[in-house]
This record gives sequence, structure tokens and C-alpha cells, in this order.
Amino acid sequence: MHKVIFDTDPGIDDAMALLFLHKHPQIDLVGVTTVFGNAPIEMTTRNALYLGSAWGIPAPVAEGAGQTFDPSRGGSYWPTAIHGDNGIGNVPIPENIDRVADSRPAFQFIIDTVRAHPGEVTLIAVGRMTNLALALKADPEITKLVRGVIIMGGAFDVNGNVSPAAEANIHGDPEAADVVMTAPWPVVVIGLDVTMQTVMTSGYLADMVAEGGSDIQLLSDISQLYIDFYKTRVGDGMVIHDSCAAVYLVRPDLFETRSGSIRVVCGGIADGQTIQKPDGRGFPPGAWDDLPSQKVAVSVKADEVLAVIRAAL
Ligand code: BDR
Ligand code: CA
Repeated sequence: MHKVIFDTDPGIDDAMALLFLHKHPQIDLVGVTTVFGNAPIEMTTRNALYLGSAWGIPAPVAEGAGQTFDPSRGGSYWPTAIHGDNGIGNVPIPENIDRVADSRPAFQFIIDTVRAHPGEVTLIAVGRMTNLALALKADPEITKLVRGVIIMGGAFDVNGNVSPAAEANIHGDPEAADVVMTAPWPVVVIGLDVTMQTVMTSGYLADMVAEGGSDIQLLSDISQLYIDFYKTRVGDGMVIHDSCAAVYLVRPDLFETRSGSIRVVCGGIADGQTIQKPDGRGFPPGAWDDLPSQKVAVSVKADEVLAVIRAAL
């Protein structure tokens, strides 16, 4: 059984990953931590509480960061054209939700949960890396206590999606991402290199709705705006970025990875760019030396990833 803390900014593709983590029989979702990103923090937390209630997910929700790791970095932008004004495709949320957030901030929830289950918890982070960076700052020893860290973010050998250089989760808080990627814990990064190839067509989703129940109907309802947005990028279907990271946990064999140290560009024209120095490549001494070797996904068996999600949902 894999114990998981899901660090997320729901978020439409986040919602699919959340339902997958809840339903997969080999995954024990022990907590959901929220972060700003696809919407302001109050909204992503509310969405996590709402989805948790609607889908009967027992895991507690802890609210996380509402601004960047370095507060002086300043303003955020909300991708309303992709995730809607409310972060979940403009599907209305009831006024009263029968859930409240944990009393601890997300970074403390992460520390406490990792310390309660040494060597057992995998962190799956699919939004800004702010909560993880704050947890590392408060308690650096957790690097020795987590089982692993799986990140959806970055663009290594392809263009980004918010600039030619940068992907949204990293661009939204590059300093936090650099802290997380360079920390001495085992990180796997599932970036646009593979997620842009993993597309669930609207017909595939409709078949899942027909097979499944009201849970998948809600997922389908909130996904329609996202599918409309991606029409201009991938034709028909939704790019299931965050679910790729979740599937990696149980089926790493569906991904080919490359090992090497990672840095994140902080500032300038390439702000938020992720760069990996593959192991064994020699360069003059520089900022990549003496860093842990992390894994970056470079190819994916996309059809099989979709099948794993369909089977779980
Ligand atoms: C990532 O950015 C967010 O909009 C998505 O939820 C995903 O985590 C893709 O770049
Ligand atoms: Ca996300």
C-alpha cells in the first residue's frame, strides 16, 4: 500500500488525479494539501473540501500557501480560461460544505504526517512547490523520512506552456521548485515532455461516464471547459497532466526516465525554466555540481496510462 499526501491546486486535471488517488486499491490517501495556482488559495481549498465531500474521500484537507515562497516575487495570475473562474470549470459549488480544513497549515501537516509514518509517505505535488519548500525549510530532516516525491511540473526537452521556457507549476514559484528539486530526497519529475502526449478524448471520458456512476459524471461536468480550452492545443480531449504523476506511483514502468541533477531558472527571460544535467555529462564546475541525481520522465506509454485511470475510476 502506498501512503500519499496529494499537494494540489484544484484545478480540473487535479480533480481527476484526486479521484484516481482515492479510488486506486493500492493507494492510501492520507492527506490533501492545497496551494494557490489554478485559482487563489481560498478557492483551491474550498474545491478540495467540496470534491472530498462529493466523492466521500476521508483524507483530511490542509490549506497551504497563498503566495510564493519568496513573497517579494509578487503577483500571481489565475488561468481562468483553462480552469474557470472558480477553478473547477465554473460548475457551481454548494454554499455549505460539510467539511472543514485541518487546523494546521499544509507545510506542518506534511511534516507531522511524514514523521508519523517514517519511510512510508510519498508526496505527489501537482501545483506550485511552495508547500514542499516551506516544509523543507521548517524541517530539513524530512528528506530522510519520505519515501519519495513525485512532481507534475517542468518542461525539459520541449517548450513550456506559460512561456517558451517554463511550465505553469514551476513558473508560478520558481524559487520553491529549485529548493524542492535540489533537496536530497528522491524526486521524479513528470513534465510537459510526457503529459502533453497523454490526452483523454471526450469520447473516452464519455465512455467512462457510461461505465461509472455519479462520481465520474461530476468529473466530466467540471472537465468540459478544460476540454474546450485544449481544442486549440491538442484537438479533441483533455491533457491529464496531474493524473500522469499519480499513475507514476503505481506504474513507473509506463514511463522512461533520465537521471541527473536539476536546477530551476529564477528570474530573467527564462524564469521558471527547468534544466537537467544528465548523469555522466561533463561540464566545467558550476551550479549543477554536488546536487542529488533526480529522475525526469522522457517518454510515456500514454494509452496504458489512460487504461490504468479508467480501471481505477
Ligand atoms: C499544470 O498546471 C496546472 O494548470 C495544471 O493543473 C497542471 O498541474 C500543467 O502545466
Ligand atoms: Ca495542478
